[in-house]
Parts: sequence; C-alpha cells; structure tokens
Amino acid sequence: MRENNVVVIQREENCGSGNFRHLEDGIWVLLMKSMSRSTKVLVFPVFLIVGALVYTRMLDTNPTFFGGTSRKSTVSTTLTRRPLTVTVPLNCSGYNLTGACPSIIKIRSDEERSSSSATCPEYFRWIHEDLRPWAHTGITREMVERGRPTANFKLVILNGKAYLETFQKSFQTRDVFTLWGILQLLRKYPGMLPDFEIMFDCVDWPVLPKDRYNNAAHQHPPPLFRYCGNDDTFDIVFPDWSFWGWPEVNLKPWEILLGELKEGNKRTSWLKREPYAFWKGNPIVAETRQDLMKCNVSDKQDWNARLYAQDWGKESQEGYKKSDLASQCTHRYKVYIEGSAWSVSEKYILACDSLTLLVKPHYYDFFTRGLIPVHHYWPIKEDDKCKSIKFAVDWGNTHNQKAHSIGKAASNFIQEEVKMDYVYDYMYHLLNSYGKLFRYKPSVSANAVELCVESMVCKAEGLEKKFMMESLVKGPTNTNPCTMPPPYDPPSLHALLRRKEASIQQVQSWEERYWRKQNITS
Ligand SMILES: *[C@@H]1O[C@H](CO)[C@@H](O)[C@H](O)[C@H]1NC(C)=O
Ligand SMILES: *[C@@H]1O[C@H](CO)[C@@H](O)[C@H](O)[C@H]1NC(C)=O
Ligand SMILES: *[C@@H]1O[C@H](CO)[C@@H](O)[C@H](O)[C@H]1NC(C)=O
Repeated sequence: MRENNVVVIQREENCGSGNFRHLEDGIWVLLMKSMSRSTKVLVFPVFLIVGALVYTRMLDTNPTFFGGTSRKSTVSTTLTRRPLTVTVPLNCSGYNLTGACPSIIKIRSDEERSSSSATCPEYFRWIHEDLRPWAHTGITREMVERGRPTANFKLVILNGKAYLETFQKSFQTRDVFTLWGILQLLRKYPGMLPDFEIMFDCVDWPVLPKDRYNNAAHQHPPPLFRYCGNDDTFDIVFPDWSFWGWPEVNLKPWEILLGELKEGNKRTSWLKREPYAFWKGNPIVAETRQDLMKCNVSDKQDWNARLYAQDWGKESQEGYKKSDLASQCTHRYKVYIEGSAWSVSEKYILACDSLTLLVKPHYYDFFTRGLIPVHHYWPIKEDDKCKSIKFAVDWGNTHNQKAHSIGKAASNFIQEEVKMDYVYDYMYHLLNSYGKLFRYKPSVSANAVELCVESMVCKAEGLEKKFMMESLVKGPTNTNPCTMPPPYDPPSLHALLRRKEASIQQVQSWEERYWRKQNITS
C-alpha cells in the first residue's frame, strides 16, 4: 500500500503470488495488515466465503483497472460464495496530512458483481428522450462550453476521478450536495463510467428553450444539467441535492427519510386521517401558491383545504419540530403545488399514503414523468383550484377505497421506484449514455481541483457533515445497475401522453358535472 491515501481495491497484482486470502467479516482491518507490504495496490476481498476460508478465482480476462497494471494469473477453484459488502473507509487524518485525494479508485469487475436482471423503472426511458438532441451529432467541446454562461460548475470525470471547476457558488448547499451525490455514485460503481464533463446549473428554471434551437440552420443546444425541465426546453434533468440532504431546512438524506416516512405511515391509517386536503410550505415563492391560499378554510367558506405557511426562521429556532415530514402524513389528502419551478417536496408528499392532489404542474424532474394521473395522483386544475380541491376531497370521502389505493400506489412508487438505489442507477445510466456521446476526451483545466469524498467531508462541519456521513456510500456495490429499458417509439410515446391527458380530462368532466349538480341543488 502506498502510504495512507491509496485506497485501492483490486485483485492479485503486486500482492505476492497466489494470494489465497482469508476472508471474514472484519476484512478491511485484516487486509490492511496483511497487505501493508504491497506497493501499489491493496487487494479488496469481494466475496465472503461460505464453508471455506479460501476463495480464488481464475483471472482469465484482464479486468479493467485504473492505476494498476493488470497481469494475468492462473488460480482456480469454485466455492459457494456470497457477495460481501466492501467498505472503502474515509481517511481524514491521511487527507489532512497530505491534502491529496486517494490515488486509485477501485474496480469490481463485472463478473464479481452479481448481475441484476431487473429492468429499471419505466421513467428511465426518458433518459433516451433527454439525450435525443445529441443522438446523431454526438457531443463536442464547443457544445459543452456553450453551457458555461449559466452553469454554476463544470465537473470532469476522467479515469474514474472527479475534477471540479466552480464558476459561481449556488444558492445554499445545492452544489455541494449535488457534487457529493455524484461522488457517491463513483464510489458505488467505481470505474464504470466513461470520461465526460458536465456543465451544471443549480438554479431552478430551465434555460434552453426548444424554439431557439429547433431551426435547422441554428446551432445545437448545449447539454446542460439541472434539477428540472419542462416540455419546451432541452435542459437535462438530474436528481436534486435533497436526495443527499438539505441542511438549511434540516431535510435528512432521502434514504433515511424514506424509512421514516414508511414508519410514519403506519402511525395513522388512512381512514383515521383528517378528511381534508393539507398543504404546508412557503406561499411567497410563487403566485400560484398565493392563489392556493385563497382556498384555506375560513368562517365564510370551506373548500376542504387546510393550508399552512411554513415559517423557516421560526422552525429553525424551534428545532424543526413542526417541519418533520414523517409526522406530516396526518391528512387523507395532500396538495402538491409547484413553487418557482418544480419543488423537492413532491416526493415527500407522494410518499405519505395520502391521496396527492396535484395542481397542474409545468415542470418535471427526473422521476415525475413516471407518474400516471388517477393511478398515482389526482389532478387539480390550476385556474380553479378551490372548486377542484373541494370536489377531489368530496370524491375521496365517498370513494374511500379507491382514494386510498391511489395514495398507496404513489407511496409504493416512491418507496420502490425512487429508492436511493434507483436514484443512483438513474444517474449512472444518464451519465453513462451521455458520456458515450462524447466526441472528445475532456481535459482538466488549470482552474479545476480534484474532488473526492475526503476533500469534501473532512473539512465539513455540523449538519452538513452529518448528512454527508449519513449518505456516504460505504463502498462498491456487488450488484450491477438495473437494465435500461428501450426508448419509446414515437407512436407509443404519443399514446402514453394521450392516455395521461385523457385521464385528466375525465376527472375534469366529473368535476364539472359535480358543480353543475351542486348549483342546481343549492
Ligand atoms: C481534518 O481537518 C479538519 C479541519 O480542516 C478537522 O476539522 C478534522 O477534524 C481533521 N480530521 C482529522 C481526522 O484529523
Ligand atoms: C490513514 O492515514 C494515516 C496517516 O497517513 C495512516 O497512518 C493510516 O494507516 C491510514 N489509515 C487507513 C485506514 O488507511
Ligand atoms: C388557514 O386556516 C387555518 C385555520 O383557520 C389557520 O390556522 C392557518 O394559519 C391558515 N393558513 C394561512 C396560510 O393563512
């Protein structure tokens, strides 16, 4: 092992011949001892041997290694094996001493990972759509550079390592936790991504209108990553920072919250929940939210809505007791309404088991295109919110089972298809497909600095550090990413969009009939 900072996982090379390794649970420590004389690389055990202490394998092909020379060796045997979770430890004392990122990143060769035959969730198909503008041309340096004016940073991935050039700090810690997330992806699937660079814009709104580029005489859009898009723009959507934590509002990493939400749902069964539509958030950020506030209950009216303004200043003083999301699943209906663009709150609302009343959205993020109206949520009109909510709640309170099952379908979707493993797989497939479009080899500019988990977490403090440690990927996974589903062919994509639109129309016609009847009887 080359001094402290080398964290390498790999097999055979430079570790003495034969290398029969004794593998047990406390393996890291063991290896640190047994391998300390080796020079470049450490061997990381990948499998727990069941029923025997020795496991070796035939290296008949050269797995791709970075930073090490690969040499064939011939060892054999087959034993029952069980995948072992490999932990790549952080070494902040080492990092503090040298200021250098660990020099080699491990590889688990394909054969060592049990192949995951599972097909990715349906919404992954939108990756094909998002990258379509460059499908025929590929991606050139010139295209990427044109994304620079609005980008907060450029991240270069080269030989499995990350290099960051910051142009402008983002709002709060959006950029920090986005970068942290990408580093976790590299830990989970080391050596599996091609070389590429991304321009990332952390601001809410998409900025690349299609009509600016659709003219054939015009140049190509720059590939620009951000958290949300809409039907009129070419921006590429990427999971937002909140999946790794949002310290400014005390939002924990998604993996933890998802578990808490699951537990929270058990606390109050659907029927025992308040039979009203609940919303809590910041109404100031968008006109449409202020419009929603008009539907709040008062002495004069009851649209079945119970709406609350979130006061983050007050919440933070009081220790966020009232903003705890898992204890906000107390109503049968929960309203989702966009803020200045998409809102990170959508996944928390959908995860509640309550029926989500979704005010017509204008933006999508990476997973919301997988939502189906009336199956996962109830569509609410944007321009007549109060009447729409009143009808939805009345409908749900007279169709308990159906309403509950829509709520359940949404929380299942979130729990199963938007769990952290799939968030990483989405990032993996998006970046992998994106990288394959590259027509040049990116290089690291003089302004870029190497980024690694140590360079981020060792100097972090407080909640930031806590969330980073909680969302740290322990080490390379032993399963392959899910299998990408094929692109939509144009007729089936068209049919899908039409089906969704038809369901929304259906609800609107029920709603109109309901109000006609109300007017007659009143
Ligand atoms: C590394 O340095 C940071 C300050 O830069 C300090 O907060 C942290 O405790 C140090 N970690 C170790 C393990 O020495
Ligand atoms: C971490 O770095 C220190 C200082 O270089 C070194 O002594 C130690 O062995 C390293 N620990 C691990 C677990 O790599
Ligand atoms: C909505 O009405 C409830 C009940 O009167 C009240 O507590 C709440 O503050 C109101 N919400 C807003 C945003 O005014």
